[in-house]
Amino acid sequence: MWISRDAIGWHDIPGLFTDEQIAHWKQVTDAVHRSGGVIFAQLWHTGSPSYPDFFDGRPPLAPSAVNPRPLAPTSGRKATVEPLAMSEHDTRQTVADFATAARNAMRAGFDGVQLQVGFNYLISQFLNPRTNVRTDRYGGSIENRARFLFEIIEAIGVHVDLRRVGVKARPAWAETGAFVAGSESLADDLADLVAYGQAFITNPDLPDRFADHAPLNEPKPDLFYGRDAADYADFPQRERERTRGLPRGGDGSHWEETGEPTAEAGRRHDSAW
Ligand SMILES: Cc1cc2nc3c(=O)[nH]c(=O)nc-3n(C[C@H](O)[C@H](O)[C@H](O)COP(=O)(O)O)c2cc1C
Repeated sequence: MWISRDAIGWHDIPGLFTDEQIAHWKQVTDAVHRSGGVIFAQLWHTGSPSYPDFFDGRPPLAPSAVNPRPLAPTSGRKATVEPLAMSEHDTRQTVADFATAARNAMRAGFDGVQLQVGFNYLISQFLNPRTNVRTDRYGGSIENRARFLFEIIEAIGVHVDLRRVGVKARPAWAETGAFVAGSESLADDLADLVAYGQAFITNPDLPDRFADHAPLNEPKPDLFYGRDAADYADFPQRERERTRGLPRGGDGSHWEETGEPTAEAGRRHDSAW
């Protein structure tokens, strides 16, 4: 979600920078917690692939005035533009915006935050020497290019326990030879977590399925990024199917007539799996 107005780069994506947004996110986090879930806010700043339409005609901000042309435009089919190179003041403001958004996330009831360092978004643009040609302390060496990221982490750490702060990089970096993600990353201690996308969307109970070597539902990419539940919340959950298939115990009193397990059956179910 966007950390500030300057961060916007797509239509129909929510933000986390107004009191109204915080209040509405609270309803979401409450619902997730009521269901026993955990929810992190992923903090976004688009940087150069955004478009002046979002900023009353002003070009988007970026580490350097490098048009990200090879990247997909994020505003309809319009071509990307040459962005404005951020001043030191802009970098300080943006670091502060990330920190405020993280604090807002905690106020909204999120369990933690994750920085979007992939997608060739702003932080990634700072790391990448093709999009960051700065000659100040944010450009040049990898230490300088990473400075923006570490300043953000430090600023967020004032508000959020850093054990609840994630940084998501992605295999896009592989083309520069700088980063490759996958199960090897976990094995080599290069990453704490690896994100699954399509498989998770189509299999809400993915960890269970992996654990049981169970077959996976096939993704339907045509329905990705849809505006309703189709292919996001309507896949058959194996847990339910398995529960339905369990033999009734005793007189079957812990089963509802619908075949759905009651709380008692749920407890038995937990211990059985
Ligand atoms: C429909 C869809 C939406 C996604 N949205 C996000 C997102 O909001 N943030 C993010 O970091 N990654 C997002 N991803 C990427 C996934 O988190 C994951 O990194 C990537 O899909 C991994 O590849 P896989 O789908 O083959 O597992 C999305 C992926 C898909 C398919």
